[in-house]
Amino acid sequence: MAVTPRLDPQRIVIAITGASGAVYGIRALHMLRANPGVETHLVVTRAGRATISYETDHSLAEVKALADHVHSDQDLGAAISSGSFITTGMLIAPCSVKTLSGIANSYDETLTVRAADVTLKERRRLVLLLRETPLHAGHLRLMSEVTASGAIVLPPVPAFYTRPKSIDDIVDHSVGRALDLLGFSPDDLPRWTEERSPR
Ligand SMILES: Cc1cc2nc3c(=O)[nH]c(=O)nc-3n(C[C@H](O)[C@H](O)[C@H](O)COP(=O)(O)O)c2cc1C
Repeated sequence: MAVTPRLDPQRIVIAITGASGAVYGIRALHMLRANPGVETHLVVTRAGRATISYETDHSLAEVKALADHVHSDQDLGAAISSGSFITTGMLIAPCSVKTLSGIANSYDETLTVRAADVTLKERRRLVLLLRETPLHAGHLRLMSEVTASGAIVLPPVPAFYTRPKSIDDIVDHSVGRALDLLGFSPDDLPRWTEERSPR
């Protein structure tokens, strides 16, 4: 039996849930769209649809148009619900506590949680831009549990060493760090260098 390289183009799953910060998922789609070697699979939860409308000027249709493939969160038969459908990984941006809890408990009732669970069981990268504050012990326990299962919890905490000039700068840096962790390094991601450190 002949073998062929697993992924060409690279596939990445993006989920937008109902935590504040729909713009993070939208920016990720914009950045990945610029690369023809990347195939994006988008899921937007019901609450995610609401936050897109509350927080941004984008229609749901415009957000969907940024992705190569769009799946319903209710479609548990979608390709991304199976480990045999090869992907590079999954980014949930933003990630709500509810979705975090679903992932921690493998409560695979929605496509978003199922696809995340599959990503972990196949030992692929799962990055969660978890957005909640302040955090109680139960939130921290859930973060610890998904980390033990292999997920990367990346709260979108701004970095100020990059001297951001706008909210876009702050958002792009958080999304860039997330994509970095998934192996898609943005060319213009500001990085700390020794030259910037005070003498
Ligand atoms: C405007 C708005 C902002 C919200 N922000 C957050 C948030 O930052 N973090 C969070 O965990 N939930 C937040 N929620 C609550 C979630 O939307 C809610 O828990 C929802 O059930 C999450 O479902 P999902 O994970 O399936 O998208 C927010 C809700 C609204 C309406």
